[in-house]
Amino acid sequence: MIAGVRGTRDILPGEVERWQRLEQVARDVCRRYGYREIRTPVLERENLFAKGTGETTDIVQKEMYTFTDKGGERVTMRPEATPSMVRAFVQHSLEQSLPAAKLYSLGPMFRYERPQKGRYRQFHQLDVEAFGVAAPALDAEVIEMASALVAMLDIRDTTLLVNSVGCAACRPAFSTALVQALGDRAAELCADCQRRAETNPLRIFDCKVPADQGIIDALPHSADYLCDECRTHFDAVTSGLDEYQRPYRVSHRLVRGLDYYTKTTFEILGEHLGAQNALLGGGRYDNLVRQLGGPDRPGIGFAAGLERLVLAMPDDDRETAEVDAFVVAIGEEATGPARLLARDLRQAGLSVLFDPAARSPRAQMRLANRTNAASVLLVGEDELARDVVTIKDMSTGDQQTIARGEVSAHLTQRDGRP
Ligand code: HAM
Repeated sequence: MIAGVRGTRDILPGEVERWQRLEQVARDVCRRYGYREIRTPVLERENLFAKGTGETTDIVQKEMYTFTDKGGERVTMRPEATPSMVRAFVQHSLEQSLPAAKLYSLGPMFRYERPQKGRYRQFHQLDVEAFGVAAPALDAEVIEMASALVAMLDIRDTTLLVNSVGCAACRPAFSTALVQALGDRAAELCADCQRRAETNPLRIFDCKVPADQGIIDALPHSADYLCDECRTHFDAVTSGLDEYQRPYRVSHRLVRGLDYYTKTTFEILGEHLGAQNALLGGGRYDNLVRQLGGPDRPGIGFAAGLERLVLAMPDDDRETAEVDAFVVAIGEEATGPARLLARDLRQAGLSVLFDPAARSPRAQMRLANRTNAASVLLVGEDELARDVVTIKDMSTGDQQTIARGEVSAHLTQRDGRP
């Protein structure tokens, strides 16, 4: 047997129904907030992420699936969607065709990380991005939308974290303050952090090495180094959240592992997920569109990990796929008419199984039981002669005879469908 690739998963029947429900809710939330769907390719040029996600991030330095294709081009299987969304926004001048440039996308992402519960090498995101609006009221609306998504999936026990990482004007002073505060102790940190101290001190907050945490906890907070504009913006975001009555906690360690953020960052954590507890994360990125060759437009968005949402969603007994009816043919004569009955009911919108192998009636009944069909429809010599079908309700065992032409209406009614 050839097993699947490490860090990838098959989403099997039984679980896939939860995914379908999640995707339905996700699309519905996006529609309510005015986002339009966009589908971008998995493959992008390598430098889109080097420039977009950032050269000093773990994603670009260690985790990308990049290769040279047969034409000699360096391509990357997208590790996140934001740079692709920005690329498409710029490439197709979407702000002209979509006055409110609010876009969402659902699809697989790829990161070469160490697999564990809630962390995979191929995983899926709902990605939501809004372009062109700098006002802090949008930050609050986007965060409110993310909370609404989680609430609509009946996920309880979550924590909303928010922070501000400042902008190009105030970030340098904060970086200098970090390096100064570290002083000689920088040498005690892990090799990654020593590199971060040189290239992008803010990234030190991404460190998960237990021995480093004491030093990191004592570092200055970005919120204390914000310029007036960033301070006012952050205050407006938090008062917006207060107005929406969404509880949140300001977390100074929330710098997020991507380089493009300016001002607002946020995450929603799930309580029962273990180490990989971020259900979603995002923030504002006011320079990224310009950095990727577009006009000077601000942006903000978030991405939710679908695997993690599925893990956090409560069980739902509606999730077994319902088979409305199993058509059992009794005798060779009945096989053809039974097959046509199944076809007609399928055309009427019902979920119908039929045994193409034409096994014995007993074997067909066993199969009907195993597939959990709501009704069994018996077609035999007698039924054919009278142009009727015998319907057995599998939950009550009741049996009745109905004119063939009325079977579909009868089953639809039983189903409670319109
Ligand atoms: P991110 O924090 O890297 O942000 O990922 C967002 C979410 O994707 C995480 O909170 C988590 O739920 C999920 N996720 C990330 N890596 C994995 C993995 N290896 N396995 C399973 N789930 C994972 C971004 O990707 C940004 N593009 C978000 C954003 C959009 N910022 C602005 N706009």
